[in-house]
Amino acid sequence: MSIYMKKPFIICNWKMNPATPREAKKITQEIARITEAKKGTVIIAPPTLFIERVRALYPWVAGQDISAHAAGAYTGQISARMLRKENVSYVIVGHSERRKYQCETDEQIAQKIKQAHGEKITPIICVGETKKATIPQAWNKIKKQLDILIPSLVRGGNYIFAYEPVWAIGGNKEVDPKYATDIIYRIKLYVRTQTQEVSPVIYGGSVNCENIDSLLYYKNTIDGFLVGSASVRPKEIKNIIKKIYGSY
Ligand code: PGA
Repeated sequence: MSIYMKKPFIICNWKMNPATPREAKKITQEIARITEAKKGTVIIAPPTLFIERVRALYPWVAGQDISAHAAGAYTGQISARMLRKENVSYVIVGHSERRKYQCETDEQIAQKIKQAHGEKITPIICVGETKKATIPQAWNKIKKQLDILIPSLVRGGNYIFAYEPVWAIGGNKEVDPKYATDIIYRIKLYVRTQTQEVSPVIYGGSVNCENIDSLLYYKNTIDGFLVGSASVRPKEIKNIIKKIYGSY
């Protein structure tokens, strides 16, 4: 694993925010000011239109999505190669909002993982149950996703799994850290038995300044966090990063 794969991983998924390049620049500068490579990897995932600007100010940038295809007639999509040419080293694939609004399937997400690996971009692969459920029920759903996604992983390649219970996404939903940790443990074990490789698994879903301490209690199992809504609030994301840095 390269230096760019140092845990804890903190992925700032800006989603379709902020509204202006100026704000994007401001948040990037705030984040850049407090990140330290030796303490972990903080990755900013801005909207595609802001990637070039953010990348000019900050080294660790992710795309929020890529095409399942290498090139061609796919209006509105961007390829893994395009990201690499912008010096982007990570990409989120299979985010629940893409699954929901663009009807993405695990089979398509598996193709995206292949595209990312082909360009030496680290995929951040989102999995998670859509409805609140018991651990065995949730695991049953996630295992089905993993069974389709794992065959597309390249041996010796870098990848990160993000466990996001979809019902807990939204910035301020109630999350049970013990529940999340139990599922993360299962994902780690399953990926390891299927691939003979160890993959980082991070948690995402309403990570904020209030609940980060209770999540950090399980830092031995959780390798980092995917932060959505809170990641475009400069003060809050800075506090979250500081707490995470202070804890690992
Ligand atoms: P949230 O989003 O932190 O707003 O719940 C998480 C995500 O982007 O998946």
